[in-house]
Amino acid sequence: MDQKSNIILIGFMGSGKTSVGERLAKRLSYNFCDTDQLLERNAGDSINHIFSVHGEEYFRDMETQLLQELSSSLEQTVLSTGGGLPIREQNSERLKELGFVVFLKASKNTTVDRLMGDTTRPLLKGEELEQKVERMLDIRTPIYEKAAHMVITTDHKTIDEIVELIMIAYLKQK
Ligand code: S3P
Repeated sequence: MDQKSNIILIGFMGSGKTSVGERLAKRLSYNFCDTDQLLERNAGDSINHIFSVHGEEYFRDMETQLLQELSSSLEQTVLSTGGGLPIREQNSERLKELGFVVFLKASKNTTVDRLMGDTTRPLLKGEELEQKVERMLDIRTPIYEKAAHMVITTDHKTIDEIVELIMIAYLKQK
């Protein structure tokens, strides 16, 4: 496959992109980047605050812009992406050009358990977490599936097991 040497992790909030990404990068001796962390660092502001002051579209534009900037420089990197980043088609197309895209797919129940009590995700604020997650998963799951080269169901798997599966698939297609 004529593809850059990067692995991109996509999936819903709480699907384990950052934990898996950090460990995967260590195993491969790759760099690790997280789009949320990069955006917060560049803006000198929290995602929560960016959403509340400027709104979601502004944040999505920041994501698109960041991805554009990363495209020329990313090599030997595991990139963990914000859960909404692949929803814009231009972003998901760019991700596929950037590297091997893996969708970490967690069930609704696992996702809700992990996100219960979270205060860092503006889109999940307020009541009815379960209904929100269900509605968003219904819309986003087919988009994540289309955007990915590989789908891993993560329920009942350890981080190490997920890392192993990604490494085997990545090194095979390289
Ligand atoms: C979002 C996911 C978050 C963050 C922002 C919006 C989303 O990232 O980018 O709160 O739309 O799903 P994580 O997936 O890392 O939580």
